[in-house]
Amino acid sequence: MALMPQLGGHQGHDGPLGDAVVLVEASHDVDRPASLASQLLKLAGFLLELRDQAHLAHLNIEGPLFLPVHAFLGEQYEAIAGQFDVICEHVRAMGFRMPPSSPQLRGLCDCFCHCSATSAREILSSYGANLDCAAEMATAAEELAAKARQIDIQNSLAELVAHCRKGSWMLAATLAPQ
Ligand SMILES: [Fe+2]
Repeated sequence: MALMPQLGGHQGHDGPLGDAVVLVEASHDVDRPASLASQLLKLAGFLLELRDQAHLAHLNIEGPLFLPVHAFLGEQYEAIAGQFDVICEHVRAMGFRMPPSSPQLRGLCDCFCHCSATSAREILSSYGANLDCAAEMATAAEELAAKARQIDIQNSLAELVAHCRKGSWMLAATLAPQ
């Protein structure tokens, strides 16, 4: 069964996403948790943005903490790329398709905070805030996965939440006043 996420409109799926993400179904199957798939797709779009923010910060960051922060951000974008793949594989395993282009996937997420600042503190603060947001989105998806009894998805989301929370804490500690 081919399922394709689209932007806008409303197909009547309940869930925390409102009308932002809609799944077009070729046929209706009440056992397929479309609201969970919608939340996972929105999260996947967010993770793409988060991965790119970490990579750009990895390249642009300057200052006395360059070496450890550069290494930290390198680990971050690689880890997030892995988390992105895991989340998307869950979507496919549930029988839903991914959007055919990166802009479409990114467009499913309207809550990412982009940072145009050049100071290390502002860049890292923005990235930390986005990590917190990703953790909240993943927690919301985990609640849907629990209702749908998708324990493998719950486990993946718990790992993502742990990654985001730890990264946020490490950034807050790095940015704490001396
Ligand atoms: Fe690098």
